[in-house]
This record gives sequence, C-alpha cells and structure tokens, in this order.
Amino acid sequence: MCGIVGYVGHRTSADYLLEGLRRLEYRGYDSAGIATLSADGQFDVVKAVGRIDALAERLTERPLLGTTGIGHTRWATHGVPSEANAHPHFGGPADNPVLALAHNGVIENYLALKEKLLDEGYAFTSSTDTEVVAHLIARSLAKFESRGAEFLDEPHALLRAAVEDALAKLRGTYGLVILFRDYPGLIVAARQGSPLVVGVGHGEHFVASDASPLAGRTEKIVYLADHQIAFITADALEVSHREHGRIDHLVHDLTIDQTDVELGSFPHYMLKEIFEQPEALENAMRGRLNDEDGSAKFGGLNLTPQQLRGVNRILLTACGTSWHAALVGEYLLEELARIPVEVEYASELRYRNPPMEHGTLLFALTQSGETADTLAALREMKRKGYPTLAICNVVGSTIAQEADGGVYLHAGPEIGVASTKAYTSQVAVLTMLALFFGRLRHLGFEAGKRIIGELRKLPDVMRQTLEVNAAVRQLAGKYCHATNFLYLGRQFNFPTALEGALKLKEISYIHAEGYPAAEMKHGPIALVDENTPSVFIMPQGFVYDKVMSNLEEIKARGGPVIAIAPEGDKQISRLADDVIYVPPVEELFSPLINIIPLQLLAYHIAILRGCDVDKPRNLAKSVTVE
Ligand code: G6P
Repeated sequence: MCGIVGYVGHRTSADYLLEGLRRLEYRGYDSAGIATLSADGQFDVVKAVGRIDALAERLTERPLLGTTGIGHTRWATHGVPSEANAHPHFGGPADNPVLALAHNGVIENYLALKEKLLDEGYAFTSSTDTEVVAHLIARSLAKFESRGAEFLDEPHALLRAAVEDALAKLRGTYGLVILFRDYPGLIVAARQGSPLVVGVGHGEHFVASDASPLAGRTEKIVYLADHQIAFITADALEVSHREHGRIDHLVHDLTIDQTDVELGSFPHYMLKEIFEQPEALENAMRGRLNDEDGSAKFGGLNLTPQQLRGVNRILLTACGTSWHAALVGEYLLEELARIPVEVEYASELRYRNPPMEHGTLLFALTQSGETADTLAALREMKRKGYPTLAICNVVGSTIAQEADGGVYLHAGPEIGVASTKAYTSQVAVLTMLALFFGRLRHLGFEAGKRIIGELRKLPDVMRQTLEVNAAVRQLAGKYCHATNFLYLGRQFNFPTALEGALKLKEISYIHAEGYPAAEMKHGPIALVDENTPSVFIMPQGFVYDKVMSNLEEIKARGGPVIAIAPEGDKQISRLADDVIYVPPVEELFSPLINIIPLQLLAYHIAILRGCDVDKPRNLAKSVTVE
C-alpha cells in the first residue's frame, strides 16, 4: 500500500525521490506526488494520478530543483484517487503553508479533528485523513512559536514539541515525513505502527517506508521504531522518543543491494523471484543445519532450552500466501515433532478468544512484517502472555521488532505482488523448525541427519525443477482461456493446491479453487465439465492411490486433467491429459518442489491474458489496513 521516500543532501532531491517511488511501486498505489523545499523556504509540488510514469512526465515538463524533498505513492483509503487527494499535503494557511507532509497509515479520529480545524478556519483541499495531520501540526507549531523563548536551548526543541503535541491527538497509525517552510534542509520523520527507515549517506540522508529505495544508495540503515521522531539533515540524524527524549540510534548494515531490487534480464519481478528460489532456499538454510546434533539451529528464538522443551502446542498465524505456508508447517510439525499445531487466519485470531494453554508458542508468518491483521494477532497473543515469534522476510519490520524473537527468511526483497520465493523460504524454515522441535523430542539422531541430507539437496532439485518452464509455458497456451480451475492435492500438498489456486486468481483473474482432493466430491465436482481443468498434485507417497481415484472421478465426468507428478511415474500419463514431471523427492519435501510448476503456470497464463503480473488489479503487496 502507500509508500514514502525522502531525501536531504546535496543532490537534486526529485531524482532520488522519483527513483525511490519506482522501487515502491510494488506495494500497490493509485497516485503519487513529490514536494521539495528550496533553501529559501519555497515549496514546490508535483502530483499525478496513475503510474509513476505519469509523475515522471510531469516532472520533465516542470523539474523540481530543491535538495530537500519528500515523495509518496498513495493507495486510496479516504477519498478517491485524484491529484487533490494525492500526497504531499500542506498545513497552515492555504496561501502560505508552513509545512508539507506525506503519510502512510490511517487516522481513525480524523473526522472529529477535521471538524474542529474547520471551525478554527483551516481550509481543506482534499478528502484525506492526512490533511488533518498537516493542519494539526501547523496549528501546534503556531501555538508553540508564540512561546518561542522556552525553546532556545535545543535546536529542534520547538519543532519536537509541536509535532509531539499534534501527534498526541491522533488515534490510528502513521509513518510521516514532514518538511517545514522555516527549516530548509530538514526532514522530520515520525512513526507509529507504520514503518520508516533512514539511510545514512555521506553528506546526505534518505528516508523510506522500506529499505528497497535505499539499495544502491547507501549501505547503512536505521530502523525507526514506534513513538520515535527523527530530525534529519544532510549531515546529522537525531532521534528522540516520545517518553525518553533524545535517544541513541543503532546504525545497521543494509543487507540488500541494487541487483536485488532490479529486474536484470527478467521481464517481470514475479518470474525473477520464481527463479531465485533455489538461492533463497540456500539462504534460508545457511548456518541453520547442525550436523553434529542432527538438528537445526536458530540464533533468534530468544527462548531458553527449558521453554523450548516445554512447548506443547504451536499456533501459526498469517494471511494470504503466508497462511498457506503455515498450513504446510502444520503437517510438517505434527509429522516430525508430534506437537499439536493450529493454523489461524490472523484476521480471525485477532478477535478470537482461544482458551490459554500453558506451553503454547505463537509463530506469526509474514513476508513483509507489516500486515495489519498479522500484527494485531501477534499483539493480542502477546498481551495474553504467549511467547510470540515471527517468521519474517523484511529485516527491521514492525512484526520483526515486536515479536519476542524469530527467524528471518533472508529471501531478499520480494517485489512481485504475488508471493513466490517468500513462500518456499517460509516452508523451508518451517521444515527446519519441525526438525528442531522433533529433535528436542522423539526424533532420533539418524533420522535428523537424514533430513538434513535431503534438505541440502533441495536447492539443486529446485534448479532442475525450474527446467519445466518451457513445458509449462506451452501448457499455459492450451488452458489460458478457461474461466474456472480446480486445484486438488492431499496431505502435505493440500496447501500446495490452495497456493496454486491463489497464484492463478491473483494474477490472471481466473476463478480457481484449491481443495483437498477427496473433498472435491462434496461440492466442487459440480463445477467439472469439459471447460474446467483440474490440476492434480500427485507426489508418490501413501495417498498416491487415493488421489488417483479422485482423478478418475474427474475424468469420468469429462473434466480435463493436468497432473504435477514425479519423473518415473508410469501410470499418470495414461489418465491425465497433460503431465508436468518434476524431480522425485520425499513427500515431506514435495510442497517445495510441486509449487514451482504451479507458480509458473499462473505466471504464463496471466501473461497470455495480457495481465500486469507484478501489479495485479486491486491487490497490494503489503496490506497495512485491517
Ligand atoms: C497480501 C499479498 C500476499 C501476501 C499477504 C500476506 O495479500 O498480496 O501476497 O501473502 O498480503 O502478506 P505478508 O507480508 O504478511 O506475508
């Protein structure tokens, strides 16, 4: 959803801002804008509805020259996508605004605040909640300026007092970047529930709502936390906390570089990320396989060995694709660790009141670390006293910061809206967690060693699997006109069926349903006809024959069948209309392999239908609203 960038330094800020906004396009947006501030306190602003290209065109017609600036991509919440509603917004008198501001998040009490500001004579030009924040800060600034003498000691004391005073009146979430007319060369950033990072350069600073606009610009990053306000000039970064005043901030190494956020030779990020999966898998496993103990090891669980041994129930919560990874985790953890596992949609869990059980451990799975429902579920469970861990990709994200501990995926930035490499990395981490908890219980050393051996082979098996790309592209040509698809699998691959169907829905807008293969008789079979393809996931294993019977039932009703089956399966080609052969692996690991042809199938069908796979309609990469 919305994205923020900011720049203060010696270069023309609009260049970085525009490039930064392009890097944030993946989050989903419908309009964009940039405001700059010149050294003599003049604001300049350019906005456009639609793609960043439209904004770029405007900027070519009317270049913005200031060396301090902020930019924003907006995903409409309050008010339609329009130039008037696009950020940045201005605060103070319409003919001489005192500040410009861009905002991510939602202000819940904006209507009441707006009424008050209207009564006081503030004029509004948009329907946004953001403009309320702009005027509110302008109002506090005017109030504190009239008491100027109190603030002579510290350089930013007056601004801090004004911003804090205004923010205290807000209910909701915000990541804010603000330019003040009378403070050229300064950006003020504040966060509460919506992420902001600062990139530290030489004689320049960058601000953004995630790290991707920083890649290639700097190698040093500061993650702002809730209740913090940053005062950022070309040469200095000063951070203060609402309650503790000025605080020291930690500067981290930025772990992503420019190639991670660029397309390279791929036509789309989704395809690039599908092909990055073998490497992502290696990164997820690096340093985590422990041959000596025949187990896995994790540096950040932050639980004592006693606490870990005391875990007798695991709750996995997530949204979207991450929820599907959690479902695979349920099968894995129960199989290897014999621990009861429940998987809950975060949007349900946050309002449920599950009975507390001693020894319950919560894992929140999230690529972005920012999904509003997952964050709320984590907070709720934390409040109730569960230890909460995160399985997360984005370093320094809100969920990563708020969880008691966790495991990073190290998959690198995932930019395509449809999640691919984060999914397989999550499944890999869950496999290692299942091994880890299994080895704390009944799983023997030899069994652990064998699993480690198999895990080590998987990146290469994935590389071989990706060779199906050409065959899948051809298959896509045959089926791209279908309007309904069924995806069917069982046990470990029931979630694969759900995820395969979700991929197709998300990017090709074809209706698709994933089902446990045997459940198909209880409803979806009514959909089967000669125009409705069924995709069967058919690994060798103890349910193979059962799934084969389900497949026969579809064939008997004239439905076309596409099967994903391991090389060497001699029977399948006699029944299925089309087969995509993948390298054989143990059933336990097969979700990691079987999902690859399904990701590719969705991708190629979407391309053939002319869809924008990286920015599918109505979807956002990071869903920061409830
Ligand atoms: C959005 C994205 C999905 C993603 C889901 C959960 O819906 O479009 O691809 O799976 O959010 O996101 P998370 O970052 O929490 O994994």
